[in-house]
Amino acid sequence: MQNLKLNNGVSIPEIGFGTWQTPDGETAVRAVKTALEYGYTHIDTAACYENEASVGHAVRESGIPREKLFITTKLWNTERGYDSALKAFAASLQKLQLEYIDLYLIHWPDNKNPEPNIASWKAFEKLYKEGLIKALGVSNFQPRHLRPLLDMAEIKPAVNQIEYHPGYRQEETVEFCRKHDILVEAWSPLGCGRILQDSNLRRIAQKYNKSIAQLCLRWCRQNGTLPLPKSVTPERIKENLRVFDFEISAEDMQYINDLPQFGWSGLEPDKVDF
Ligand code: A2P
Repeated sequence: MQNLKLNNGVSIPEIGFGTWQTPDGETAVRAVKTALEYGYTHIDTAACYENEASVGHAVRESGIPREKLFITTKLWNTERGYDSALKAFAASLQKLQLEYIDLYLIHWPDNKNPEPNIASWKAFEKLYKEGLIKALGVSNFQPRHLRPLLDMAEIKPAVNQIEYHPGYRQEETVEFCRKHDILVEAWSPLGCGRILQDSNLRRIAQKYNKSIAQLCLRWCRQNGTLPLPKSVTPERIKENLRVFDFEISAEDMQYINDLPQFGWSGLEPDKVDF
């Protein structure tokens, strides 16, 4: 596994371990410890996943030096605004028992008004300047949410984490991010499991002697996005790292890119009410 460079020069491992829907407690501790043992060094959590304490616990128990790890967490929607973002960040650090966060993201844009996003961002910039966050980013932002932020940001977002998998590519957002040197991270790169029975993907995966999950993760990387597969199952956690020993042909990439929409979560940033 290699590192990618973010637009502020920070290195980020090219696959991260997702923890959305991983229950707090023993399950999360075991999943993250297993991932760290198998060689993941990049863990993605969020305040709203309510498993930050378990992620922190697993990180400490792994004995891996902090500087060898890349940890992401996210500001939840109820905590938007300057003061509340500062407080929420302190609470996340406390739960994770860490001294700094590698990447801190605004979890969802305020879709009615850009002001709260901007106020949160000002708090992010303060924490960045204090060295408490190494890179700043957003999640689920579309170009119309990113534009006002880019207009005012002193420190540009380095990452936008969006739903991205075969059958759901959000082309306009990905192209916008590419132009602005914002790395796209893929949440639910396996479509939350919904796309893993697809016969088209199965046929292509078989050509390479790989699972559909591996095909999806490799496809993310070849399209320049950084996948964050989630699993609580040791064999799958391991399987999801074995994606660097094959190359999807240009023809197959095009075929997967052209698949009609399927497997979408239904979460539309402008319509969600959380
Ligand atoms: P589990 O956690 O029970 O192992 P996504 O990352 O797109 O959100 O997908 C996560 C879902 O896909 C989870 O239900 C997870 O199940 C399942 N999953 C993760 N990796 C694999 C894999 N290699 N093969 C099959 N299912 C997988």
